[in-house]
Amino acid sequence: MRRHPQATLHQIDRIAAVWLLPLSILVFFLCCRASLRRPRKMPGLFCYLNGEFIPHADAKVSVDDRGFLFADGMYEVTKACKGHLFGEAEHMVRLRRGLTELRIDSALPVVDELPAIARKLLQLNGLADKDATVYVQITRGVAPRYHAFPAADTPPTVYVIAKPLAAYPASFFEDGVTAVTMPDMRWKRCDIKTISLLPNVLAKQKAKEHDAYECLLVREDKFIVEASHSNVFAVIDGQLWTPARDNILPGISRDVIVAKAGELGITVVETAIPIARWADITELFTTSTGPDVAPIVKVDDKVVGDGKVGPVTKQLLAAFAGRWLEEDKATAAARMAAAGVAVKADALAAKAPEGAASGAGAVVTA
Ligand code: PDD
Repeated sequence: MRRHPQATLHQIDRIAAVWLLPLSILVFFLCCRASLRRPRKMPGLFCYLNGEFIPHADAKVSVDDRGFLFADGMYEVTKACKGHLFGEAEHMVRLRRGLTELRIDSALPVVDELPAIARKLLQLNGLADKDATVYVQITRGVAPRYHAFPAADTPPTVYVIAKPLAAYPASFFEDGVTAVTMPDMRWKRCDIKTISLLPNVLAKQKAKEHDAYECLLVREDKFIVEASHSNVFAVIDGQLWTPARDNILPGISRDVIVAKAGELGITVVETAIPIARWADITELFTTSTGPDVAPIVKVDDKVVGDGKVGPVTKQLLAAFAGRWLEEDKATAAARMAAAGVAVKADALAAKAPEGAASGAGAVVTA
């Protein structure tokens, strides 16, 4: 039977009407998925690279950069709240110390300029009135691959970016999060914030694969010393235990918690957390730039305490939040003076008030 050409046209119209909508939804969905999977280029964001403020998408570093070839460099991450760099002086002290330890010139003028560069990026990226993180990376510069240091006049590569900080959901702090464990495979200079982070990357990946927030790092099968990107605290017998500052990354957030615990009259025991005391651990949390404090309610398959965020953690969470409000250069100076840290005179504008950092609680180094 021969079809009437008009009937065929009607049929095509009907088929188009039935299929066009679902097809276009499918195409839209696939496009969205593809764009989500593509590494984001951070459109519209500016970064600082070797003396210039340029669009992040245009930033290029040589394949001969020693950061790329040897992970020969270090980094810092600082939180900014409405343009204020949280713990600016402490981050600068840690950065300078790291550079000195790696024998990268910490007296370079650009190092002094980093806080100003960070503030300019916050403005350029529309973050001056928002929460953000500032990432700084300094490597030993660009030179043909050869293990020993390049010529002394090789300029370091300096990269800075300011990015929006997404708010953590309330459940993160109210219900807590989970962690897994892994042996600590890092080198013996974990006190330097180097960009050589492969063990940390593997640890965080393990956490991700177990839908956990963090991966606690265990030394000698006996002690929890740190986590992939955070420091660790445990409450044992009502005291706050945290590994001492040596052979861990001395976190700025860690030091805030130690100081705040002191002010609250909580005894701090500075020693690695023994796995053998697991049954006595009633609370556990990690600290890092970003969430500041992350309550951990389960580790591997073991519930911490009663599986809820405990009272000491809640107290310190509140104290840390309060610290945001009270922070200014004067209190930063006082804390650092109390910690016996030498600060470059120009790093701190104001003089510290008497006793601003002194705490009532004891700090015990076991
Ligand atoms: N990580 N320990 C490790 C191994 C870390 O990488 C970090 C920080 C900390 C906590 O340091 P602070 O309180 O100063 O942020 C402890 C940052 C956030 C990072 O790598 O992105």
